[in-house]
Amino acid sequence: MTIPVRCIAVAGVAAERLVPILHDAEEDDERIRSALRDPSCQAYAALDGDEPVGAAVVRWDDREPSEILYIAVAAGRRGTGLGRRIIAAILEELPGHGRELLVGTANCALDNIAFYQKCGFRMHSVKRDFFDYIQPPLREHGIIMRDMIVFGYDTGDASEQPVKRV
Ligand SMILES: CC(C)(COP(=O)(O)OP(=O)(O)OC[C@H]1O[C@@H](n2cnc3c(N)ncnc32)[C@H](O)[C@@H]1OP(=O)(O)O)[C@@H](O)C(=O)NCCC(=O)NCCS
Repeated sequence: MTIPVRCIAVAGVAAERLVPILHDAEEDDERIRSALRDPSCQAYAALDGDEPVGAAVVRWDDREPSEILYIAVAAGRRGTGLGRRIIAAILEELPGHGRELLVGTANCALDNIAFYQKCGFRMHSVKRDFFDYIQPPLREHGIIMRDMIVFGYDTGDASEQPVKRV
């Protein structure tokens, strides 16, 4: 039986409970907390009962493209469709803010590159040498982390696949 998961907007103390989950998307917990406190950012939680099992932080912008800053699903719950459902919940709110939603990931994060495309995002741009500040450089899948691949979801792009929220 599928456990029902609610994706809801959260703030304050409830948002602090998301830090351990979001840690897998951003190692610096203070950066996460600062985003959670930022009034232009909105946190989202996937809850199994009261337990957060997935989370995201979005910076909504009504003039520029909005951006998913962080998204993560609890390690034991990955691969069960939760990430897709969080993305779908965020996309439901996109028309209220504009038409374009961006998200960045590392060139070596092949899992995330697959995930975002499965969720209807397309490649938008590359921020070359974005990760140069990490020394010594990290590697994933044997690839040096160098560039940020920016993915975009554009509601005005007729070729976007609709993302079903199940
Ligand atoms: C990225 C992340 C949020 C995905 O969440 P998830 O719940 O595991 O993803 P889902 O189960 O909803 O998968 C959605 C789709 O992406 C695909 N997908 C997910 N991970 C994948 C992988 N490693 N390789 C290929 N496809 C993948 C799934 O197969 C699924 O496609 P389908 O519906 O056509 O079968 C999760 O892996 C995570 O928390 N990672 C660690 C934190 C992180 O790196 N965050 C992103 C920072 S940029």
